[in-house]
Amino acid sequence: MQICKVKNYQELSRKAANLIAAQVILKPDSVLGLATGSSPVGTYEHLVEMYENGDLDFSQVTTVNLDEYKGLAGSDKQSYRYFMNTHLFHKININHANTYVPNGTEPDAEKACQAYNELLHKIGSADIQILGLGHDGHIGFNEPSDHFENETHCVDLTETTIQANKRFFDSEKDVPKQAYTMGIGTIMRCRKILVVVSGKDKAEILKQVVQGPVTPEVPGSILQFHPDCMIIADEAALSEM
Ligand code: GLP
Repeated sequence: MQICKVKNYQELSRKAANLIAAQVILKPDSVLGLATGSSPVGTYEHLVEMYENGDLDFSQVTTVNLDEYKGLAGSDKQSYRYFMNTHLFHKININHANTYVPNGTEPDAEKACQAYNELLHKIGSADIQILGLGHDGHIGFNEPSDHFENETHCVDLTETTIQANKRFFDSEKDVPKQAYTMGIGTIMRCRKILVVVSGKDKAEILKQVVQGPVTPEVPGSILQFHPDCMIIADEAALSEM
């Protein structure tokens, strides 16, 4: 694990965007693994800016997202498909047919996960996967558990996650209780992983992810075993280390 310490969220976002931009410039038909949540928002803003300045071309890029709430359609403002469309896809020249997010409207969890797994097998491992970190150590929506899941599966969201994510919904009862998420195995097979972590509220869990034992109780800790994983974190997020 390589830790890149930056001053603040602005610097974190610039650095992460530069690394993703380098990937796209070096390999125009890259597969980008993308994440939602507030952590990568600044990164996407910078990528849009680079595209607008004529420095980036996404026409050959394919994207695969980590997760989606079960029960939400892409037209739902809180869905991760909507998030990706508004923060990135609708602002760059990507072919929308090449942007993939698990299908939240498929009520049959087995069907939804199998379809996403088949798609991921067809596309192949992402060249670079961007990750945020949940307050309970989750990556994607892989919540603390007694084992690491390999591929896409349906998860029951933990109380911590529901509490953390309720800010995006009108009320707590609107927060879906389940989600479809890429598995830990799929994430670990990505060639390169970039984790963006910001803020004092992530300091304790980041310390566990980096310095604690590798355990499914802290899903992000598995990243210690990835051969090419960089954590970009600001001073506040690194304040416990
Ligand atoms: C969400 C997402 C994750 C994200 C995490 C942290 O639940 N499923 O992919 O990384 O929580 O979110 P934030 O960046 O808003 O703290």
